[in-house]
Amino acid sequence: MSFELSYKNYEKLQKLFLRYPKKSAATLPALWIVQEQEGCIPMDAFEYLAKELETTPMEVYKTATFYTMFHIAKPVGKYHIQVCKTLSCMLNGRDELIKTVEKTLGIKPNETTKDGKFTLSLVECMGACGGAPMACMNETYYENLTPQTLEKIIKELQ
Ligand code: FES
Repeated sequence: MSFELSYKNYEKLQKLFLRYPKKSAATLPALWIVQEQEGCIPMDAFEYLAKELETTPMEVYKTATFYTMFHIAKPVGKYHIQVCKTLSCMLNGRDELIKTVEKTLGIKPNETTKDGKFTLSLVECMGACGGAPMACMNETYYENLTPQTLEKIIKELQ
């Protein structure tokens, strides 16, 4: 069966188009709608979205794969821990943060805990270099992290 938006989300998408000069300009919020519905962007959603956005599946795919916040074909856990791996964070303790997640949850980067609760990803700079090392838990930024503060945050969510 091919991908379809729920009726409610289809209506949401149609309303979204009213805010943009052309339908393809709504690619990012359209991808959000799909991800909220499915927990990721299923591969067959690209063709569906391309039709709705009056563009090509490749254009939608290129946009989705450019941004790390979109999860292609594979859902992430309820809590998505994204540890910044770029220079400032690397120099200020990134590796200790990664080890802390691995030790606390028993997962490596790009893995999800068996209960589906946590996924660990390593990402490029998230623009919070002044607070390095940092990690993001879903949409919340945590800066100036230490292994102890990160472990505490994770334990509170377990
Ligand atoms: S280097 Fe980590 S947020 Fe910029």
